[in-house]
Amino acid sequence: MAVIEIKLPHHRYEVRIEPGAIASLGNWAKDAAPHKRAALISDQAVADTHATAAAQSLAQAGYDVLTHTIPSGESHKNLDTVRALYDLLVGARFERKSPVIAVGGGVVGDTVGFAASTYLRGVPFIQCPTTLLAMVDASVGGKVGVNLPQGKNLIGSFYQPNLVVADTNTLNTLPPRELKCGLAECVKHAVIRDADLFDWIEQHTAAITDQDAQTLVELVSRNVAIKAAVVVADEKEAGERAHLNFGHTFAHAIEATTGYGTGESYHHGEAVSLGMVAATSLAVEVGRCDATVLDRLKQLLDRIGLPTRADNLPPTQQLIDSMLIDKKVADGRLRLVLPDRLGEVSIVSGASHEQIARAWGTVRQA
Ligand SMILES: NC(=O)c1ccc[n+]([C@@H]2O[C@H](COP(=O)([O-])OP(=O)(O)OC[C@H]3O[C@@H](n4cnc5c(N)ncnc54)[C@H](O)[C@@H]3O)[C@@H](O)[C@H]2O)c1
Repeated sequence: MAVIEIKLPHHRYEVRIEPGAIASLGNWAKDAAPHKRAALISDQAVADTHATAAAQSLAQAGYDVLTHTIPSGESHKNLDTVRALYDLLVGARFERKSPVIAVGGGVVGDTVGFAASTYLRGVPFIQCPTTLLAMVDASVGGKVGVNLPQGKNLIGSFYQPNLVVADTNTLNTLPPRELKCGLAECVKHAVIRDADLFDWIEQHTAAITDQDAQTLVELVSRNVAIKAAVVVADEKEAGERAHLNFGHTFAHAIEATTGYGTGESYHHGEAVSLGMVAATSLAVEVGRCDATVLDRLKQLLDRIGLPTRADNLPPTQQLIDSMLIDKKVADGRLRLVLPDRLGEVSIVSGASHEQIARAWGTVRQA
């Protein structure tokens, strides 16, 4: 088992990573959030499997468990779902010390976390991520929130969990496409902070996609450690936390223009894959980064089965317009995270529209 401690000035918590970890959830929860009752909120897709195991573990540890499911999918990450959670908690007279536990991917973690952060001005919150993306990214760092019809993640807060339990065995039921999407974020972590991790993913691609148990524990642990270090250095995204946006300004433009969460053609990790290629192409074009980095990145993403080119992107001007309304624009200038070399990135705001257009050209299928 790997245990990663996240120590913030005002709060500390552990991320416990282990195959079969959900069986121990109840005992660990008793240390992190002791109380007689717990609310277990899960994604519908894991309700009969991983959430049932989680509920059993909590009951064995002595919790009186209230269970509830949220329908799967990004379209349910909204205020209606949050409202239903408030109704559930108020109806069951949940108190300030009763933990709320999320079992599912990033959608459930973000939504339940936001409800936990606001119900009674904040109750203990435990994350049990069941997607690779949620294990390595969404469940660590304390960003919780929901979407509005006007845009993704427009409502939210920073709210740190009391405990994160990542049971890597839960990935066995995850559709392969979702596993690959999580891997896009792992490649992102490697590019922004850890060239050794990049080598390691190159060497272990098959073991990861074949879901070798020890390889998954190492993958998740190394990525959680990177995310944790970035978050501890800059909890509220005043500076270097923005490095986590590598590839994401391009990705958000793809998502916004191709209909994210509505049966879209690209899942988030796929858009991030294309976004990382576009950002790295731009870094090569402006002379910040060697072309070998771009070659290795594309080869690795191809081998994982993530897209590096797309044949159905909207017109480039539409994509650039969408980038300009992203949250990362300051004074009308795009601030892009570009690699200098593997393991190191910078925030760059001087790229011209022509250069950005050429970067889009590199991911557009001829
Ligand atoms: N808070 C953060 O810092 C942060 C960071 C990155 C992403 N996010 C958010 O995370 C969300 C994406 O998360 P995601 O990729 O986990 O998506 P998700 O929660 O929608 O899960 C993906 C799919 O997998 C299914 N699923 C989940 N676990 C499963 C399992 N073990 N077996 C079978 N099916 C399973 C779900 O039902 C869903 O259909 C987005 O809303 C994004 O904004 C948040």
